[in-house]
Amino acid sequence: MPEIVPSLLSADFSNLKKEIRSIEKANATRLHLDVMDGHFVPNITFGPFIIKAIRNLTKLHLESHLMIENPEKYIKNFADAGSDTILIHIENNGNIKQNLQMIKDLGVKAGLVINPPTPFEKVEPYMHLLDHFLIMTVNPGFGGQSMIEEALKKVTLAKEYSEKYNFPIQIDGGVNIKTIQKVMTVNPDLLVAGSAVFSNDDHQKAFEELSKKI
Ligand code: DX5
Ligand code: ZN
Repeated sequence: MPEIVPSLLSADFSNLKKEIRSIEKANATRLHLDVMDGHFVPNITFGPFIIKAIRNLTKLHLESHLMIENPEKYIKNFADAGSDTILIHIENNGNIKQNLQMIKDLGVKAGLVINPPTPFEKVEPYMHLLDHFLIMTVNPGFGGQSMIEEALKKVTLAKEYSEKYNFPIQIDGGVNIKTIQKVMTVNPDLLVAGSAVFSNDDHQKAFEELSKKI
């Protein structure tokens, strides 16, 4: 059964406890954490220190989406902070195989992320190593952007691998009450929703309404 994963990026950081409780009440099981370093993407968010604080607030499955250069330098910090899944980008030209293995060796689920302009062929050699696959449906860096629908085709391309290797396919960017119908024609397992959940004053209701559409 597909599931909405709230992204904290659009939440009110002056009251994280309240924000997190609201999505727990809506029965979310996971929380998406967007880590940006100002180099890999033109925006800066937060790092392991904040994730550790979030870990102390919730038992939700924490997925850390690393939009950073040289992730190998920080993977251990993100694992120690309490990430349950760590997602690294195919585009940052590091040693992908080694980095995925580093994540797994720390007892954390390892996933790969692909940006809209990157062809699916780039990730195919790593499919057998994945616990999770994230397809960006916006160019990463900011919440509240319009969905690049073309990128949804990668969900269909990834299906045979996700069945063979038993990992979920997730999409990230531009999911809202208007786009969700189109998204569900390709049937991803997990759908990140940031602004659609947290920019609505009633987060619980927004989460529930999106969930009803899947
Ligand atoms: C974008 C982030 C997304 C973002 C999605 O770089 O990876 O997770 O929070 O935000 P919305 O759902 O508002 O497009
Ligand atoms: Zn993300």
